[in-house]
Amino acid sequence: MSDNSNPHGQTTGHVWDDSLAELTNPPPKWWMLGLHASWILVVLYTLYYPSWPLIHSHFKGFAGWTSIGEFKEDMKEVESVRAKYEDKLPGMSAAAILADNELKNYVVRSAKVLFGDNCAACHGSGGAGNLGFPALVDDDWLYGGTIETIEQSVTMGRKGMMPKMGGAQLTDAEIDKLANAIVGGTITMEPLFASKGCIGCHGPDGKGMAALGSANLTDKIWRFKAKDQLASVKTTITHGVNDPSDPKTRNAEMPSWKGRLTDTQIKKLAVYVHALGGGK
Ligand code: HEC
Ligand code: HEC
Repeated sequence: MSDNSNPHGQTTGHVWDDSLAELTNPPPKWWMLGLHASWILVVLYTLYYPSWPLIHSHFKGFAGWTSIGEFKEDMKEVESVRAKYEDKLPGMSAAAILADNELKNYVVRSAKVLFGDNCAACHGSGGAGNLGFPALVDDDWLYGGTIETIEQSVTMGRKGMMPKMGGAQLTDAEIDKLANAIVGGTITMEPLFASKGCIGCHGPDGKGMAALGSANLTDKIWRFKAKDQLASVKTTITHGVNDPSDPKTRNAEMPSWKGRLTDTQIKKLAVYVHALGGGK
């Protein structure tokens, strides 16, 4: 076995099991090129980017690249896109922002977080409403759904006032009659509605007055929604809303955001709420 030739090329001379030989053929050229190209790439890459660990630090790379630097560059780009819109907002009214489609879209997107941080705790995520707190997604408004009134609601806050009617004003039987008529949707046909002065605030048509924030009593969209709606309506009539003379009165206060949010943030939120679907 001194002849190392084999029909497939030179062998190493080792033979296993009388027949298995190992060839000494070099690998194909394309493979060798690939091998050299990849180690050259590794060396260049580790020189360019931060790589090798040193005793107290690490090799920083010749490119000066850092991940935090890349992040900051990206943020600068985002800021410059935002600035294009943000710079215009302080000089514009909420109504003008609403009328500019591109600006409106930007504001609605950027106010989403603002709404989540400041408003959703009471009004529900996306303004869907919560027990005791009005929904902002529908077109049923206590104070009005124009962009101006919404902006005013947010800036100044709102606190509806209805005096307690239980006790001296109304007998239990009268409260019963009024409450049933409201829940049944026939309040305008109930003589007590006019004779007991409810129309002074809720209007002769029972639809409420935006200037007072008095609820619409004919639409079955409840300001004070409850499983037992009849009982809830009776409670409101008996104890009133925000009546300081009755400890059982309903508390209903929208805080003022003046000074807590900037004028621009309030404008953004007004546009956002208007665009939730119910804006007029
Ligand atoms: C502490 C709870 C609370 C927070 C927080 C709150 N609101 Fe209100 N909001 C209310 C209550 C309660 C009312 C209803 C007031 C009433 O019944 O008189 C209201 C009413 C409103 C109204 C008037 C709705 C109508 O039907 O006319 C708007 C608009 C509104 N809120 C927007 C906002 C926005 C925007 C934010 C975030 C900046 C916000 N609210 C944060 C409790 C809250
Ligand atoms: C001084 C004005 C005023 C008078 C008078 C008044 N209301 Fe109200 N009422 C309001 C206001 C304002 C609200 C809404 C309060 C809020 O959400 O901030 C309200 C709310 C209600 C609600 C709650 C509706 C709901 O959707 O849950 C009922 C029910 C109601 N009133 C019935 C009556 C009846 C019946 C009378 C007459 C006996 C009457 N009110 C007289 C101002 C008045």
